[in-house]
Amino acid sequence: MIKVIITGSNGFLGQSLLNLLLQDSTSYQVIGFSRGINRSGRDDFEYVSIDLTNSKLLEENLLKFQPDFIINTAAMTNVDFCENNKIECDALNVGVVKTLVAMAAQIKAHVIHLSTDFIFDGIQGNYKETDTPNPLNYYGVSKLKSEEILKNATIDFTILRTILVYGEVFDMSRSNIVLWVKEMLENKKEITMVNDQFRTPTYVVDLAQACKISMDQRSKGVYNIASNTLLSIYEIAQQIGTVFGLDTSYIKAISTSTLNQTAARPMKTGFDLSKTKKELKFHTKSFTEDLQRLKKNGMK
Ligand SMILES: NC(=O)c1ccc[n+]([C@@H]2O[C@H](COP(=O)([O-])OP(=O)(O)OC[C@H]3O[C@@H](n4cnc5c(N)ncnc54)[C@H](OP(=O)(O)O)[C@@H]3O)[C@@H](O)[C@H]2O)c1
Repeated sequence: MIKVIITGSNGFLGQSLLNLLLQDSTSYQVIGFSRGINRSGRDDFEYVSIDLTNSKLLEENLLKFQPDFIINTAAMTNVDFCENNKIECDALNVGVVKTLVAMAAQIKAHVIHLSTDFIFDGIQGNYKETDTPNPLNYYGVSKLKSEEILKNATIDFTILRTILVYGEVFDMSRSNIVLWVKEMLENKKEITMVNDQFRTPTYVVDLAQACKISMDQRSKGVYNIASNTLLSIYEIAQQIGTVFGLDTSYIKAISTSTLNQTAARPMKTGFDLSKTKKELKFHTKSFTEDLQRLKKNGMK
């Protein structure tokens, strides 16, 4: 039996991971650490209501549970909020990782940590795990700092970098591109989407699967997790409309220069997936195929 703590179990990936791992309750004992009440819609796992930035409380709880794995999905992911609130951003995205790593060394736990394409500047695109990061915004800086903490530690760790995650879980307190575009088109509302930023979006079910594979294989190091086709945000919206049979004429293309966002975004990211295919034996599909799976699966 593998004992695994999921930090941020109320979050998007956190809930998807609960759904995946709790399917096999003979192999995994799952404990969720998140703030406030348990909002996952499930009660078949142990839940600890905790502010992860309270390092003393976090240490005490990690010592109490002695997990084999810690999957750290908790993060401040609002890019503009991070830009304006760097101290709060650091407390969660960097400080919590420091505590987790120090405790993992003590209790001999393997840490699986989530990172982002936003550690890159978006000039080159199609990034390999070994490419040089150069974040354009503070969210990216904080996630890069978190990666460095793991890389400089002497613990077993896996960093899964991912891009523009979407899907559907029980508590959708934060929306995502697919649900938002779908809802807008269903309500026949015009939307503007940038046609000069490029991404390889990630189905949350695949990201959860990649976490599970990393645990099962005890894989170490950095891996890219995303779909396999680079698309502009405008093309992403078009494909969402098409797969869900909605009128795509409501989608208008605009350029990034017309937006007035607080934090800069990388123009072209996307991942090279060769290492993930070769070492994790994990093959992701195109965005359209993933959308069709989402349409068929519904909430996961
Ligand atoms: N979503 C994306 O598109 C994307 C893209 C690239 C990388 N990533 C990375 O993937 C990981 C998972 O992202 P996600 O979208 O699943 O994030 P998410 O939905 O925002 O989930 C994060 C969870 O952490 C919880 N949390 C935040 N601060 C906390 C604190 N102080 N104490 C306890 N819990 C706290 C949040 O609680 P509340 O629900 O109460 O706020 C939330 O449930 C993150 O590391 C992120 O950087 C995500």
